[in-house]
Amino acid sequence: MTTNGQAPHPSFYSFAPGRVELLGNHTDYNAGVVLSAAIDMGITATGRRRDDEAIILISGQSQATANAGRLDPRSQWTDYPLGVVKVFQEAGFAVGGFEVEYAGTLPSGAGLSSSAALEVSTAGLLVRLFGLKIPPLDLARLCRKAENEFVGVNCGLLDQASSVFGRKDHVVFLDCRSETVTTIPLPDSVGLLIVDSAVKHALTGGEYNERREQCFTAAGILGADALRDVTSAELVAAAMPDQVRRRAAHVVGEIERVFAAEKCLRAGDVVEFGRLMSASHRSSIENFENSTPELDALVDIACRQPGVHGARLTGGGFGGAIVALVDVAAIERTAAEVVTEYQERTGHLGVAYPCRAGDGVLAD
Ligand code: GLA
Repeated sequence: MTTNGQAPHPSFYSFAPGRVELLGNHTDYNAGVVLSAAIDMGITATGRRRDDEAIILISGQSQATANAGRLDPRSQWTDYPLGVVKVFQEAGFAVGGFEVEYAGTLPSGAGLSSSAALEVSTAGLLVRLFGLKIPPLDLARLCRKAENEFVGVNCGLLDQASSVFGRKDHVVFLDCRSETVTTIPLPDSVGLLIVDSAVKHALTGGEYNERREQCFTAAGILGADALRDVTSAELVAAAMPDQVRRRAAHVVGEIERVFAAEKCLRAGDVVEFGRLMSASHRSSIENFENSTPELDALVDIACRQPGVHGARLTGGGFGGAIVALVDVAAIERTAAEVVTEYQERTGHLGVAYPCRAGDGVLAD
C-alpha cells in the first residue's frame, strides 16, 4: 500500500542489449550502411509509475531524483534516461513520474553501447508504464535524438537501432539513408568474440566530432550530399588534403565492404566475411586513425589464432573493444589465449566475452 492508501502501480521491466558493430565503421552519419548485432549482455530497467511528477533513478549505489515537468541535462549518467523522457514528451507522449532501477551485465566504456542500452531500456520501460504505442524505428530515432540533443553526443542511428532491432543468431543490416533494417542469419558455425582492451573509450571526446566534420568536408569538396554517394574511384581522382581524403577513404571503403559482406553472409562465406573485417581494421589504422596500440595488439593476437576468420575494432574507436569472427569450436580457447598474450604484450588485463547475436529490446 502507498501512503495515500491506494495499491501501488504495477511493476514492469524492459531489457535492452548492447551491440557490436561488425562492419561499417563511422558510416552511419554518412548515410551509409552497417552490419551489427545485438549481444546477449545489456541493461534491465525495472520500475513503476508514480502518482506525482517525481522521477527516481537508481543504478547501483547511485540514486537521483528529477521532476518530469522540468528536465535539464546534468552531465551525468542520468542524462541518458532523462533525455529519453524529454524527447518522448516533446513527441507528444504523456510521461509523468516514475521510479526505475537499472541492473546491467554490460561493461561501460568498452564501446558496446551501454549508453544506447540505457536509453533503449528506459524507452522500453516507458512504453510499458504509460501504455504507449511507438513503432520500433521511431523508438530508435527518439533514443538517438535524446543522445544528440540532451546528452550532446552527435552519434548516428547505429547503436539505438541495433539495440531495438537485434535478433537472436542474426546480424542487423541497417541502411542509414532509407532508415531500413533487415536481419540476416549468422551461420551457426561461428560466434563473436569481443575483447575489451580495458583502455577507456569515451565518445564525448572531441575525436568523434572531428572525424565527423572531416567526413562532411570531404563530401562537400566532392559536391556530394554524403559520402554514401561517393565511390573509391571518384575519391582518388578528386583534389583534397591528404588527411581528409584518408578519412573519406575509410568510410567509402567501409560502405563497399558492408555490401560485399552482406553477400558473404547470405552465401554463408565466413572466411571472406572475416577477411573484410580485418581489412576494415587496417583502414582504421591507416586512414581513419581511430585505433590504439592496444586494439591493434588484440586484433593481431586474435588473427593469429586457429579458427579466427578476422577481427577489427568495434564502435567509435580510440579505445574500447575488438570483435573477432571465430569458429564456435575454437572460441573459448581463443578467448583465453588472446587475454593471456595481450597481458604479456601490453600489461593490460583485457576481458573476453564470447557471445552470440541476441534479441533486441523487450518493449511490448
Ligand atoms: C559510435 C556511435 C555510432 C557510430 C559508431 C562508429 O558507436 O555512437 O553512431 O558512429 O561509433 O561506427
